Formats: sequence, C-alpha cells, structure tokens
Amino acid sequence: MPGKVTTATLLELKRKGVKIAALTAYDCPTARMVDASGADVVLVGDSVGMVKLGYENTLPVTVPEMLHHVKAVRRGLGRALLVADMPYLSYELGVADALANAGRLVKEGGAEAVKLEGGMDVAPIIKELLRINVPVMGHLGLTPQAIHRLGGYKVQGRKASEAERMVTDAKVLEASGVFALVLECVPSGLAREITRKLSIPTIGIGAGPRCDGQILVVDDLLGLGEGPPLTFVKRYAELRSLSSQAVTQYCQEVRDGRFPGPDHEFSK
Ligand code: KIV
Repeated sequence: MPGKVTTATLLELKRKGVKIAALTAYDCPTARMVDASGADVVLVGDSVGMVKLGYENTLPVTVPEMLHHVKAVRRGLGRALLVADMPYLSYELGVADALANAGRLVKEGGAEAVKLEGGMDVAPIIKELLRINVPVMGHLGLTPQAIHRLGGYKVQGRKASEAERMVTDAKVLEASGVFALVLECVPSGLAREITRKLSIPTIGIGAGPRCDGQILVVDDLLGLGEGPPLTFVKRYAELRSLSSQAVTQYCQEVRDGRFPGPDHEFSK
C-alpha cells in the first residue's frame, strides 16, 4: 500500500489503470477502520444527514453539522484522502459564502478537499475555490441535493439529451479544475464514455464497473442500514442483524440475572 494519498495520487492511479477504493465515514472509529483497511479516499458525505442524523434527505444538513463529523473523521485518518461534502446552500448562494464554508471545512475540519454537486453552473465556484487552494471533487448524475427537481432517486442520463448534457458537464468540470468526479446512478455505458473522455478519475456509485474507482456508503457495505439494499449496493456484512442479536441477548441476560457474571464484577 503506497503512502499518504493526495489528489495527485488519484490522477496517478488513473494513469496506471489502478482502481480507486473510496468509502464514506462519519465518525472516528469507522474512519480508523476504513483507513487501516486500505481505502484511498474517505468522504464525509452529506449522506450523514440520512445515515446518521435521521433526516429524510440531505437537504437539512448544515455546515456546523458537517464540521462536527469531518473533525471526528480527521482524527481517525492517516493515509486516505479526506474529502468533505459541501451541504445544500453552502455554495449556491454566492462565491463569498462558498469560500467561507469550504474554508471552514479545510481550516477547522481538516478536510483536504471538498465535493460539490452540479455541472457547468458550479464551474465559477470551483475556479474560486481553487484560487484559495481548496481542491474540489465534482458530482454528476443523481445529485441528491437536487432531489425535488429530479423528482426522486432515479438513474440519470438515460435519455440521449441528458447523456449529452452530462458529458458536456463532465468536460466543463474537468476544465474548471476538479481532481476527480463522482458519477452517481448513471447507466454503465455513459459512465464508461465519460471515464474515457476525461483524464481525471471518475468514482462511480451505481455507475457500473468502468469508472476509475468506486464509492459506497460505509453503512450500506456493512449492512448497518434498515431495509433491503439498493440495487447498486453490495453488502459485505450484516452488522445490523448481528448487533440486534447481541443487544437482544444482553437485554435477556440482564432480565434473567445472567449478566453481569463473575467475570464482570470487582470482588474487592
Ligand atoms: O453524500 C454522500 O455520501 C455522497 C456519496 C454517495 C458519493 O455523495
């Protein structure tokens, strides 16, 4: 495993044809585990709103909430590149706002880059963020902050006109200076075309195997969430049912008087 991952490392991995493994994390112990297990990129996604804070979607997430989680993840990381999501309305209202909020995620939170959603409309903001030395990751396809306009969590780019627009957006983002591009819920063929046309790496989630890397929400991979997994998620463990069995057993043993046992008490 090579040393500290930087934005330059990701470009190098694409050049060499080595796939990039990215995951989300929202707390310090998970960040430590993910880092030690070899993830190249750790994203503190605004998915924290749904995964950890109980919101219905990502829209209510605030910069202070992001900062709280980014700081915790920072404390757990050694090797992986730490990317922080810019939450809804933290960059859309103007460049000054975007710079101040991204600056906080880097300066106070310890993020090494930020991610923001959108195509050519956000290109001017990306250029300004680069001017203050904040590396930016782009995000196209299903952009959850646009959920009301998109009308649901659906695959994007199925129509030829949408696909064409996404390719143009991807090229504009690359020209604006993003160091990598997340493609979320995009048909595999379109993701492959975008990946071929860009010299920066694409990181797919529900975008097929031809992207330069993959990202998943760590709770999905570990089977920590409720309900069946989404089509594009592979569950590598079933930690929710394991945890639930453990808690049920604990409750039973407390009620039966079997816990604490002789090994769990101070006799003197
Ligand atoms: O918020 C998030 O977790 C994300 C990833 C799913 C890419 O944006």
